Amino acid sequence: MRVTVIGAGYVGTVTGACMAYFGHVVTVVDTDGAKVAKLAKGETPIYEPHLPELLKDAKARGGIDFRCDLSDALAESDVIFIAVGTPPLANGEANLADLEAAAHNIGAAMDSTRFRVVVNKSTVPVGCGNLVEALVREGIREAHPSAESTIRFAVASNPEFLSEGNALADSLYPDRIVLGAEEQRTFELLQQLYRPLMEQQFEAPAYLPRPSGLERVPVITTTLTSAEMIKYAANSFLATKISFANEMANICERVGASVKEVMAGIGLDSRIGARFLNAGLGWGGSCFGKDINALLHTAGEYGYRARLLEATLEINRAQRLLAIQKLQEKLFILKGRTIALLGLAFKPGTDDLRDAPSLLLAERLLQMGARVKAYDPVAMGACRQQHPDLNVQYCSSAFEAAQDAHALVLVTEWEEFRQLDLAHIARVMARAILVDGRNLYDPVAARQAGFDHTGFGILLRAASVLSRVAVEPPPEIVRVG
Ligand SMILES: NC(=O)c1ccc[n+]([C@@H]2O[C@H](COP(=O)([O-])OP(=O)(O)OC[C@H]3O[C@@H](n4cnc5c(N)ncnc54)[C@H](O)[C@@H]3O)[C@@H](O)[C@H]2O)c1
Repeated sequence: MRVTVIGAGYVGTVTGACMAYFGHVVTVVDTDGAKVAKLAKGETPIYEPHLPELLKDAKARGGIDFRCDLSDALAESDVIFIAVGTPPLANGEANLADLEAAAHNIGAAMDSTRFRVVVNKSTVPVGCGNLVEALVREGIREAHPSAESTIRFAVASNPEFLSEGNALADSLYPDRIVLGAEEQRTFELLQQLYRPLMEQQFEAPAYLPRPSGLERVPVITTTLTSAEMIKYAANSFLATKISFANEMANICERVGASVKEVMAGIGLDSRIGARFLNAGLGWGGSCFGKDINALLHTAGEYGYRARLLEATLEINRAQRLLAIQKLQEKLFILKGRTIALLGLAFKPGTDDLRDAPSLLLAERLLQMGARVKAYDPVAMGACRQQHPDLNVQYCSSAFEAAQDAHALVLVTEWEEFRQLDLAHIARVMARAILVDGRNLYDPVAARQAGFDHTGFGILLRAASVLSRVAVEPPPEIVRVG
């Protein structure tokens, strides 16, 4: 099939690459000329593991090209994905300006040669399916007033669940596909498009092997509104799970329990599940905060106050600032001290800094008169470029960041930070204080390495028990259906 994807960001580029990998002919359109030029040369403007390889394979299979102009691309397309950004406005509401422009442009580029489905992949508030339909129609009316009645299209919602850093595996081997539409023929066209994915008929790339036992991906077909709500509900639940772990961590700290043990104990309950229960600095990124705020806003429009979601946001914000409190407890005065941040990206595996806890920490520390050094294996370039006023000293290694610092804050749990020689690092610091924002290190080992270690929800007394008690890893998750 012929597919157009509007928006060459994290979602659009990965969606386009996967569709072409399945054998569809794909054009990705973006208004950002520099991004398009890079992608056209085979370079990727974002950091996402294996994306360059997948794009290369995608070119050789169905074929994928990148351009700025929508009209040529759309002429032969059966399916048009909208994957533009929907960032938050100051009041929490989703900014739909890019979505509206994309929908209007689609209408202007439509013709009557075929039935097309316009698929919303962007995360959009409930009701945006209707908005997109109205704007496509408006675009058609303005560009082709006489042909309006002959141009056939439908709007669908196909929310995206990929997570940055694992985006390709999430897209090739998803837990489910959600399709929201109002007409049978729309579902049929989308099921035809997604058949290779649903039935896992494609040859798995060598760099991304198929999880064993995965034969089919379940498809949930719903109304447009339910599909739009599913995305918000999923992100709200995941963020709430992390905030719940942090709430438990704060109680554990007070009663002398270890949140690691407590979460391991509840995570093995199949009704709860072990993932997204890590206590620490909390979640960040472009989606959780934005989507919860947008859902709160939607609920508010209907006169409902979503108190659980408010608490999820509040706990997360407080959690970030808890790192500062922990530094103050150790150092008392932060003015004039040097604090080293290990990690800037909002999570490992990405260069994305949107709503990253590191930014709030760095800003607060600088405001308080501290010097801030930072090292991130991938995101320093993006940080320099996107936050030129952030007066952080960028370092070329964790070791260099730690040198002469009074405290180290582990912000992002990059794999290379697990392997650090802590004893070596402790020796070159002015004060060997470690605030472990992701509970990455064994507190006993960190203490033996010479650090005064503070985690989140783990007291040393409980931690020493932890080192003696084997916590069984959760069993393999078996996919069904
Ligand atoms: N990033 C994620 O992890 C993720 C996961 C699931 C869902 N989502 C949702 O997917 C959507 C896209 O997110 P993203 O992270 O890929 O955004 P992004 O900001 O990385 O990319 C959006 C792209 O759209 C382009 N664009 C804007 N207006 C355009 C227009 N009129 N025509 C063509 N291109 C246009 C921008 O130039 C940009 O390159 C958002 O709604 C987001 O909430 C994101």
